[in-house]
Amino acid sequence: FDLLGHNTLGIAAKAQWLAQIRHPDDLVALANQPELADLPRRVLGGGSNLVLAGDLPGLTLKVEIPGRRILGDDEHYVYVAIGGGESWHGTVEWTLQQGLSGLENLSLIPGTVGAAPVQNIGAYGVELKDVLHELTAYHLTDGSARRFSLVDCRFAYRDSVFKQDQAGQWLIGEVVLRLPKRAALHTEYGELARELAALNKPATAIDVATAVCKIRRSKLPDPAQIGNAGSFFKNPLVSQAQYSALLATFPALVGYLQPSGDYKLAAGWLIEQAGWKGRQLGPVGMYARQALVLVNHGGASGAEVMALAAAVQAAVQEKFGVMLEPEPVIWGLASQ
Ligand code: EPU
Repeated sequence: FDLLGHNTLGIAAKAQWLAQIRHPDDLVALANQPELADLPRRVLGGGSNLVLAGDLPGLTLKVEIPGRRILGDDEHYVYVAIGGGESWHGTVEWTLQQGLSGLENLSLIPGTVGAAPVQNIGAYGVELKDVLHELTAYHLTDGSARRFSLVDCRFAYRDSVFKQDQAGQWLIGEVVLRLPKRAALHTEYGELARELAALNKPATAIDVATAVCKIRRSKLPDPAQIGNAGSFFKNPLVSQAQYSALLATFPALVGYLQPSGDYKLAAGWLIEQAGWKGRQLGPVGMYARQALVLVNHGGASGAEVMALAAAVQAAVQEKFGVMLEPEPVIWGLASQ
């Protein structure tokens, strides 16, 4: 099964088996098929946070579980249940159409609702953890259901229990979001604040969504036109001591103080300073308008993506002594 149309980086890898999951029962049916019983399995959403380093043995499950409904409300929140296969951005638009706010900062993030909790998607000062109430996941081997509360998900920056202890075990079938009844807009992020100030009126949730879309379109490549998986590395955390030492050598260093006392460095700045912004290695390169985004200019293999990632990591390590960690999930390495 060709995966070219199933990953936004546009890599032509193959899956041994590819199955669509439209209902949790489909997973139980697969689990009961003896010829598939011993195969390794993994869950694919929109393929927008994925590097296919090589072909995939075993069974790849493409989540297509549909559904969007308002469950009810309490004093502070409206609760909505969304099928794991629904588009994330389509869901943001749907909530805004219902007059609900809370998701506007997360506009235009590619991928599916079921994938959003895995890496705790975040942008412009809001993360999924700020709006998630609970989710229902199904175990990949027997299809049994389990409810994960917000606390169970163990969310952190671009991280969750689904990337740690429980990695590779669950298919996220439904996500319940809680959206505040009284809109509490998050407009502190520098670029967003500037866009909204230009409106010269108090911003609404729809204004925030429009501004976020405008900012994203100005610097992030559209995967339909140029293959990419969003930010390719996480913004690295360094200690106060390391931050101060780096700042002494590089006064223009971009870093943000975290509640923990550590500093989060702008990986895009590190990559730009290391000379990789807009630079190519074979058919892949670091995007000219946002150095943190790795782009496929056409026909790249997983090995070529990994070679560029290693070259960028080495350059940043050499100049700043900081190791960048890839942000997307990497599948199909020979060692797996
Ligand atoms: N910068 C540069 N050169 C560059 C890119 C960035 O110097 O080529 C510096 C600038 O100082 C800029 C700062 O880095 O002000 C931050 O850049 P930006 O606002 O574009 O955000 P980011 O830190 O690069 C993160 C997320 C994005 C998210 C934005 C907005 C990560 C790994 N990435 O990017 O998420 O949209 O903030 O909140 O945390 C994604 O995860 O795929 C993603 C796109």
